[in-house]
Amino acid sequence: MGRLSPRKVEMTMLTSEQRERFARDGFLVLDGFVPDAECDALRARADALVAAFEPGSVRSIFTTEDQARNTDDYFLGSGDRVRFFFEEDAISRDGELVVPKARAINKIGHAMHDLDPEFDRFSRAPRVASIVADLGVVEPLLLQSMIIFKQPHIGGEVRFHQDATFLHTEPQSVLGLWFALEDATEDNGCLWAIPGGHRAGLKSLFVRNDDDTTTMHTLDSAPWEDAALVPLPVRKGALIALHGLVPHMSKRNESPRSRAAYSLHVVSARSAYPKTNWLRRAIPARGFGAA
Ligand code: FE2
Repeated sequence: MGRLSPRKVEMTMLTSEQRERFARDGFLVLDGFVPDAECDALRARADALVAAFEPGSVRSIFTTEDQARNTDDYFLGSGDRVRFFFEEDAISRDGELVVPKARAINKIGHAMHDLDPEFDRFSRAPRVASIVADLGVVEPLLLQSMIIFKQPHIGGEVRFHQDATFLHTEPQSVLGLWFALEDATEDNGCLWAIPGGHRAGLKSLFVRNDDDTTTMHTLDSAPWEDAALVPLPVRKGALIALHGLVPHMSKRNESPRSRAAYSLHVVSARSAYPKTNWLRRAIPARGFGAA
């Protein structure tokens, strides 16, 4: 018997029905993908990273409101680092924290998958590589990772967007993998998406200019079809795969429970990665193999 090609070995996780659903809807929910104990270990690791973080005088806020204006050098330099971004409502006008540091971070980004051994191991697990192969990303590169806390009471809304607005390749190849480290409900800010919305094309492009300013270019000014939005509540351990063009958002967390998630974005090495992407790395992005 001849050797199986690597491609065939990898095509093991998803049924053809699941792949068809992803192609139709632009997203796919896989319940129970991450065992509870592993979710807890990643959540604890995220907490340890925050505990070790010394904010100093740089307090960068992450908000999806007017992102071109609110993007700073600390953010633009985070493509190959582990950096910490605060919730807007965690900091007073004077720059002081109004909640404990552990409850103040909106997200950590954007290279945990390369720089932190636990997130590296989790991100490059064979079953993650299989999902990515099954969903059609050829020669995948792990480009970006984030821990999103969605803190109790103050976890900010993430406005409607397509991930390809912020990570663009030619042709489009971005795939988002969103792992629920805690239960995500309509109360604590679960994802919402528009089924099939990925077929309408890209609506805007977030561009890093030569002078390191950023601009949001509108490509299609037609409004989103909000009425078509569906909530995607999931239990801890679920994986939601998101096509780079599917419109999605999450509401503010008004509840007393956090909604932590780990998200990973992959692109294809076969696509060009324009210099106009905000995310730059001194060391090129790697795939699923060992360093
Ligand atoms: Fe997104």
